[in-house]
Amino acid sequence: MKKPFLPLALLFATLACSILQAPTLPTPFPTSTVLPSPTVAPPPPLRSLAEERGFWIGSAVSYEYLRADSIYGDLVAREFNLLTTENDLKFGPVHPEPDRYDFEGGDALVAFAQANGMAVRGHTLVWDSQNPDWLVGGNTTRDELIRLLREHIYTVVGRYRGQIAAWDVVNEAIDGDGNLHDTFWLRGIGPDYIPLAFQWAHEADPDAILFYNDQGAERMNAKSDGVYALVKRLRDGGIPIHGVGMQMHVDLYTAPPPGEVAANMARLGELGLEVHITEMDVRVGSEITPEKMHRQAVIYQDMLKVCLEANNCDTMVVWGATDRYSWLSERTSMQDAGVLFDIDYRPKPAVEALLERFELTE
Ligand code: G3I
Repeated sequence: MKKPFLPLALLFATLACSILQAPTLPTPFPTSTVLPSPTVAPPPPLRSLAEERGFWIGSAVSYEYLRADSIYGDLVAREFNLLTTENDLKFGPVHPEPDRYDFEGGDALVAFAQANGMAVRGHTLVWDSQNPDWLVGGNTTRDELIRLLREHIYTVVGRYRGQIAAWDVVNEAIDGDGNLHDTFWLRGIGPDYIPLAFQWAHEADPDAILFYNDQGAERMNAKSDGVYALVKRLRDGGIPIHGVGMQMHVDLYTAPPPGEVAANMARLGELGLEVHITEMDVRVGSEITPEKMHRQAVIYQDMLKVCLEANNCDTMVVWGATDRYSWLSERTSMQDAGVLFDIDYRPKPAVEALLERFELTE
C-alpha cells in the first residue's frame, strides 16, 4: 500500500513554515531552559535516490552565484547530479564581441560539474533573447548571419565536446498559436535557421543529445501541437534532433494536467524523441503559507511521477537551486518561492514530496 503523502507533507509544510516564520529570540535563553532540538535526520540528497533509478535531477546554475557563495555550491553538489548553464553559455554572455568569446563562466560550471560527478546541459545556442548588441544591432545579410551562427555554434559546442551531454540548441521558437515566433533569427535567416542550428551542433559534437526547448507547451494545446509539428518535420527531414525540453514554468494554478503532459510525452516518444523537464519552478507569489507549500509540493511530485512513468523521460531540472537566487525574484523584484530550497537553503515540502515519489518508484 502506498505511504500517505498528504499527512506527511502537511506536517513537513507546517514544520517548514513554522521555521520560516519562527520569531527571532530577543536574547539567548540560558542553556538550562532551552530544550535540545529533536535530532531529526536530514533527508537523503535528491541525487542519491535519483541515481539509484538512473534518473537525472538537476538545477540551473549561474557562475555569478557559484563563485560568490560556497553554501550555494555545496547545496548544488549535494542535491543534484546534473546542472544546466543558466546564463553563462547564452549567446550574449559567451560571445560579447564579434571576435571575442568569454568562456570563464562556462568553463567554471563544467569544471564544477566534473568535480562533483554531475552531468551538464548546455543552454542555449539560439534564442531571441540575451543576444549581444553587435549581433542584433547591425544590418547583417542572411549569408553573414548564417556564417556567424555557424561559427558561434561550432566554437561553443566544439569547446565542450564530450563534456556537455545535452544542448538546448533552439529555445522558444514557437508562439502560442503553434506558429514560428517572429524572432531575430527568423527574420535574418528564415525558417532554415532551426535545422541549420541542429546540423551544426551535431557536427560540432556528434555525441551530444540535441533538444528543442520551449515553455507553455507541456499540456496538449495549440503551442504543443506546433512544437510537435516542428520536431516531426525535423525528424522526417533527417535533422539530428534527439529531444524536446518542456520548461515547466508554472504557478500554483496553471500547472498542466499530468495526464496531458503524459500524452504529450508519449506522442513525442513515438517520434523517437526524449523529453526533459528543463526549467521547472512553481510560482507561489510573495506570501508563503503552509497550504501554498503543500500545493507546490504536490505539483512537483505529480510532474516527477509523469516523467518517471514515461519511457522517454529521465531528467527533471529545476530552474534554480534556491529561492535566494531564482530568476523569479529578479523578474518580479519580489521574493517568490518557486524552487526546492528556500532563501536560507532549507528544503521545502517539495523536496520531501520528490523523495517520496522516488521511494515509490522501483
Ligand atoms: O550579467 C548582467 C550583469 O552584468 C548586469 O549588471 C545585470 C544588471 O543589468 O544584468 C545581468 O544580466 C542578467 C542575467 O539574467 C544574468 O543575471 C540580465 O539582466 C537578466 O535579464 C537575465 O535574466 C535571465 C533571463 O532568462 C533572461 O531572459 C535569467 O537569469 C534566467 O533565469 C532566464 O532564464 C530563461 C531561460 O533562459 C529560457 N526560458 C525562460 C527562462 C526564464 O526567463
